[in-house]
Amino acid sequence: MALSPNAKTMIRMWLKTMVFALMCAVVWGIYIGLERGFNVYLINRLFATMAVFLIMCSLSLASLVYFTKKFTKLLGYRMYLGVGGFFFGLSHALLSLFFYIVIEAESPAYFFEQQWNVFGIMIPNQLAFLFGVLSLIVFGFMAFISMKRFILKLGGLLWRELLRKFGFFALTTVLIHFFIKDFNKWVDPDSWGRGLPPSNLLLFVLGLFVLLLRIALSISLSRKKV
Ligand code: HEM
Repeated sequence: MALSPNAKTMIRMWLKTMVFALMCAVVWGIYIGLERGFNVYLINRLFATMAVFLIMCSLSLASLVYFTKKFTKLLGYRMYLGVGGFFFGLSHALLSLFFYIVIEAESPAYFFEQQWNVFGIMIPNQLAFLFGVLSLIVFGFMAFISMKRFILKLGGLLWRELLRKFGFFALTTVLIHFFIKDFNKWVDPDSWGRGLPPSNLLLFVLGLFVLLLRIALSISLSRKKV
């Protein structure tokens, strides 16, 4: 059976997204391994990192195109990057639940009773857990409405608006999710493996940049309207 030109384009875009994801995963994987050790938790950290990284690439494209006029050709990849990121997030969430519940992992990151010191305030790990679950639900909803029949039902404009709003909300919740767990390491350079800044600190800074870029875009658009 011959494939339609649309199907061929989709397959080509999925393949390119996968190659991009694979190359990024190799770079992040080596960095995380050097910084935190090549151990049993590496794969889960890598899934989590790739989820946030791909989702941030997807969410930042519209703002980057608006301000720089570069990357226009990549706009069509937003859905592929977002859905790809969601599947990494789902894999990370399932593996984390396995570490929390099925096997009692040794790392405090997987203890429900763990408390994290954030600016001198002790925050329960359950809160970080809840932010993770919340972001998973929202990203899941976004992946769900990215099926063709929902895009047709909602109409392109409303669909994009929903993805934008929910995307930035979920990015904020996911940044809080790992900020709670890792802030204490970020502010203690003596604890950094091989003196390298923690990978998730780099991810957090990138995340703030993506949010700021979006705020700048909204301000610029609202000024144009006036
Ligand atoms: C049921 C939902 C979730 C649970 C139970 C969960 C659990 C965890 C745990 C236990 C860690 C610490 C890992 C470690 O230090 O070894 C973690 C870190 C992290 N999570 Fe989640 N998570 C969930 C959902 C998500 C989602 C949906 C995303 C992204 C879209 C995400 C992104 C991250 C990131 C970026 C880190 C930091 C990774 C690192 O240490 O380098 N999480 N999560």
